Amino acid sequence: MNWPLFLEVTVFFGAFPLAFCGSVVQGGSCSTNNNRLDSSSRRFLSDCDDETFCTAVANGTCEFRQCRRDEFPFGFQSSETLPPLCSVGQFCPDEGSECKNLAPVGQSCQFSRDDQCMAPNNWADLASNQNFNGSLCLQSTCVYANASLGQRCMMDTTTYVDLGPDFKTFANTITRHNCRTPQFYCDTDHLQCLPTKSMGLSCIADQECRSFSCDPSGTCTNPSEMPIKVASWQYASVIAFVLAAMTATVMMLVVIHKRIRLRHYSELRGYYEEQLSLRRSMFALHAAAADKYEDEKSSVNHD
Ligand SMILES: *[C@@H]1O[C@H](CO)[C@@H](O)[C@H](O)[C@H]1NC(C)=O
Ligand SMILES: *[C@@H]1O[C@H](CO)[C@@H](O)[C@H](O)[C@H]1NC(C)=O
Ligand SMILES: *[C@@H]1O[C@H](CO)[C@@H](O)[C@H](O)[C@H]1NC(C)=O
Repeated sequence: MNWPLFLEVTVFFGAFPLAFCGSVVQGGSCSTNNNRLDSSSRRFLSDCDDETFCTAVANGTCEFRQCRRDEFPFGFQSSETLPPLCSVGQFCPDEGSECKNLAPVGQSCQFSRDDQCMAPNNWADLASNQNFNGSLCLQSTCVYANASLGQRCMMDTTTYVDLGPDFKTFANTITRHNCRTPQFYCDTDHLQCLPTKSMGLSCIADQECRSFSCDPSGTCTNPSEMPIKVASWQYASVIAFVLAAMTATVMMLVVIHKRIRLRHYSELRGYYEEQLSLRRSMFALHAAAADKYEDEKSSVNHD
């Protein structure tokens, strides 16, 4: 879900750069009253350009950003020196004015910036890929993702609208909630945490699935970016198949070899038998000739 969205956003901004960032450069005048989120992409916008932030509500000026939150921030050339990243325990707000300390639960945070909130004590239990170290920014307030089965939950449903690569409008609705993930999701009608659904069950939104992916036909599936896991029965059957194929080959070779030897043996046998019968007939011939000779000799002697 997130990767195609990122691509869409990139294509969108790439196509219409001027429609999105403010155009006032460093030193120009501005007002933080104009800080806002774009209604379709939810990107932070102000009077100032991507490298600067506005200092004040009245008589403000655009000044160079003091921090960044991304390794490669938007709107900077690769040759430019980038503002620094914030240290652990701090965050850089959307406008990039300065590093601030993480906000405790109940304090305000910026839209979808879970990373601005302090982690709960049991962060190791609550952390998942749907929150930041167990914390969330919902309805502009830091909350913990600690609601469990049957408890009341709060949610933010945001529809991002962008232009696809084919320049057709593309909408993507993301629901975020404070139920423990991935065990539970927030039921839209009753605002109660319910168990997430396993693979193959019917769903309406990604959040309902334990895999966090509801395919267009309304079934929980594996997200498309997930590596394929080979089950142990599949390993076992492949190994068994390979062994069976090897055994069958060896047995077939043995049978063929035996057949060939048998044929060879019977040929040899036939040859010997032929030789023997030849010998026998030669002896018989000799014996007959000798008998005849004896007979003739005795008849001559008698005469
Ligand atoms: C803004 O500038 C005007 C004129 O320079 C000045 O009268 C006004 O007091 C300033 N406002 C603030 C809040 O600094
Ligand atoms: C989560 O928060 C705890 C407590 O503040 C911290 O020790 C830990 O390093 C954090 N983990 C991550 C991945 O940020
Ligand atoms: C979740 O955390 C908040 C803030 O600490 C707390 O007030 C609330 O009782 C917790 N909810 C549950 C279900 O533990």
